[in-house]
Amino acid sequence: MKNYVIESLPDYFKQYKKSIKNPKKFWDKVADENFVWYQRWEKVLNYNMHEAKIEWFLNAKLNITKNCIDRHLAPRGRKTAIIWEPNNPDEPAQHISYNELYERVGKMSNVLRDQGIKKGDRVSVYLPMIPELAVTMLACARIGAVHSVVFAGFSSSALASRINDSETKLVITSDGGYRGNKVLDLKSIVDDALEKCPTVEKVLVVKRTNNEVTMKEGRDMWLQELLDNAPVDNIPTIMDAEDPLFILYTSGSTGKPKGMLHTCAGYMVYCAYTFKNVFNYQENDIYWCTADIGWITGHSYILYGPLANGATTVIFEGTPNYPNPDRFWQVIEKHQVSLFYTAPTAIRSLAKENADWVEKRNLSSLRVIGSVGEPINDEAWHWYNDHVGKKKCPVVDTWWQTETGGIMISPVPFVTPTKPTYATLPLPGIQPVLMDDKRNEITANQVDGNLCIRFPWPGIARTIWGDHQRYIDTYFSAFPGKYFTGDGALRDEVGYYRITGRVDDVIIVSGHNLGTAPIEDSINLHPAVAESAIVGYPHDVKGNALYGFVILKETGETRIKENLAKEINFLIADTIGPIAKLDKIQFVSGLPKTRSGKIMRRILRKIAEGDFNNFGDTSTLLNPEVVEEIKAGRIE
Ligand code: WT7
Repeated sequence: MKNYVIESLPDYFKQYKKSIKNPKKFWDKVADENFVWYQRWEKVLNYNMHEAKIEWFLNAKLNITKNCIDRHLAPRGRKTAIIWEPNNPDEPAQHISYNELYERVGKMSNVLRDQGIKKGDRVSVYLPMIPELAVTMLACARIGAVHSVVFAGFSSSALASRINDSETKLVITSDGGYRGNKVLDLKSIVDDALEKCPTVEKVLVVKRTNNEVTMKEGRDMWLQELLDNAPVDNIPTIMDAEDPLFILYTSGSTGKPKGMLHTCAGYMVYCAYTFKNVFNYQENDIYWCTADIGWITGHSYILYGPLANGATTVIFEGTPNYPNPDRFWQVIEKHQVSLFYTAPTAIRSLAKENADWVEKRNLSSLRVIGSVGEPINDEAWHWYNDHVGKKKCPVVDTWWQTETGGIMISPVPFVTPTKPTYATLPLPGIQPVLMDDKRNEITANQVDGNLCIRFPWPGIARTIWGDHQRYIDTYFSAFPGKYFTGDGALRDEVGYYRITGRVDDVIIVSGHNLGTAPIEDSINLHPAVAESAIVGYPHDVKGNALYGFVILKETGETRIKENLAKEINFLIADTIGPIAKLDKIQFVSGLPKTRSGKIMRRILRKIAEGDFNNFGDTSTLLNPEVVEEIKAGRIE
C-alpha cells in the first residue's frame, strides 16, 4: 500500500480533511495506486442514501484473488502467506507460501468449476478453522462464485435457513473439527440440515478428524480425491466492481438472519486500506487475528485485508485456553507474532487466570495489539495494555460491523493518542454523526446519541440478499439519508468516540451478535411455553449474558421447572446454536406491557441487572403487579 499511509497526527487530520472534502478523489487515488485492475472505473461513486443504492468504482473489472495472490508471486512468492496453527500444540504448524497458496487455490477453483459451479452461484462453507476454509473462499472468489461462510458453531437448522435463503448449490464441510477438547461433528450437522435444503446438489467433504461419516451416493464426495486430479492453473474470472463477492449472515433484531452482501471492488479497497493503516502493517510483520473466519472479522482481517497487502496471516484452529490458558501467548511466542487482534471477551477470560501464564511467555515480538467485537471495559483495556502490550504497544480499539465491511472508528497506532474504552477517531473517508431521538443532528461535543454515518464508504454492504426493502428499513429509515448503525455512542470534548452499546434488540454475548427475536421464537417452540422475553445483563467475562423471562401455558399440569429450563436451552442450541443459550431463566406469570401490548424490555433489563430503582417512565405500564412479582422472583 503506497501513499495514503497515515504517518503522524497532523498527517491524519490533513488526510481526514481531504477525504471528507472530496471523498471520490480520495478513494480514486487509493484504488488507483494500490491494486491491479483489468479495467479502470468510469466513475468513482454513485449513491442514493434514501434508496440505499451505493455503487463504487463503476464498470471497473478485477478479481480480488489476483490482488491477494497472483500479484505477490513475483516479489514474494516464497514468503509465507498463511501460518496454520492447529488446535493441538503437538501437531506441527503449516507454513503456506504465496506460491503454494496459488497452487491450492487454483486446484480448488478447478474442482469447483468441475462440479458445475459458475459465476454468481452460491457456495455455503461450513468448515472448522483449517487452511481449506481460506482456500475455499479464495477459490470461490476466483471463479466468481459467491461464498456464504456459516460459523461452524451454528446448529443444523440455523445452517439450513442460511443455505435456503442463499439458494446454495454446493456445500463444503469436513468430517469433523477440533476445538479445545471438543470434537465437532460437522458432517452429520450438514446431513441434518440438507434434509430441508432442496437447492443443494453437491457436498464436498474435507478430511480432518477421521470421524466416521455417512457419504450420500451421488451427492457427497471427498475433496482430496478431486484435488489430486485437478490442474493448478486457473484463469481468474473477470468480475465487475459491483458483482457479489460474498454473503455473510448477521442476526437481526427481528425475524430471520440478514444475508449482508458485499461486492468485489469497494470491499477489497476498503479492507486492504484499513488493514494497512489500523495495524501499521510492515512487510516483515507476522499478523494474527484470533477471530473465526465465520465472522466478518475473519473475512476482512484474517483473509482479504492481510493477503491484499501481501502479509503473513496466522489461522488458529484452537481456543484461548486449550490445553492451558497461555495458548494465545504461546502462539505469539512461537510464531513471533507482531500484530495481534482479539476480542474483549477473550481478554477478560484470560485476565482471570494467574498472571504467570502471560508473564512467563516472551511477547517482545508484539508491536500493535487490537480489540474488536464489543465495547472494551476499562479493566480489560488496562490488563491488555499492561500485561500483553507491556505499555509499549498501542491498543487499537476498532469499532465496525458486518455491514461496514471494515474498521470505521479506531486509533491509528503510533499516531492517535489512545484513551481507554474509546475507539477514538473515524478513519479517513468515514463521517460519523450523532443523532438525537427526534432525528436532529447533535453537533456539540461531550454528548451521546445514536451513531449514524453520513456518507458512503467503499466497504459498506450493498443490500440484504433477496430483500432490499429490509436493507432500507433496517439501516436507512430511522434517520433518513443516513446509515444507522444500531449503536449508541458518546463523543468526548476532543471529538473521540466511545461506543456505548446497542440501542436496538441485538445483544452482544462474548462478541457474538444475537437478536432477541430469533431466540424468543425458538423458546416459544416449546409446547409448554406461552410467551417469552430475552434481555441482556452485564457479565464479567461475556460482556453480556442472556436472561429469559418465560410464561408457561396454563395446562393444569405441573412440570419440573429445572427440567423445563434445560429443555428450553436444548431447543435454543438446536435451532440457533449453543452460543445463544440462556444463563438464567425465570418463570413468570406475565410480562410488563404497555397498553398497546408492547413488552417494556427496559424494565426487564433493569430487573435482570438487579437495579430496581431506575425504571424510568412507567405511566404507560398496563400491569404493575407483574413487575412486583418479577422483582421478587429475580434469579441472582
Ligand atoms: C457490533 C457489530 C466488527 C466485527 C465484529 C462484530 C459491536 C464491534 C466494537 C468496539 C464497541 C463494538 C457494536 C457493533 N462492536 N466492535 N470496538 N467497541 N462495540 O461484528 O457481529 O456485525 O457486530 O459489535 O455493537 O454494532 P458484528
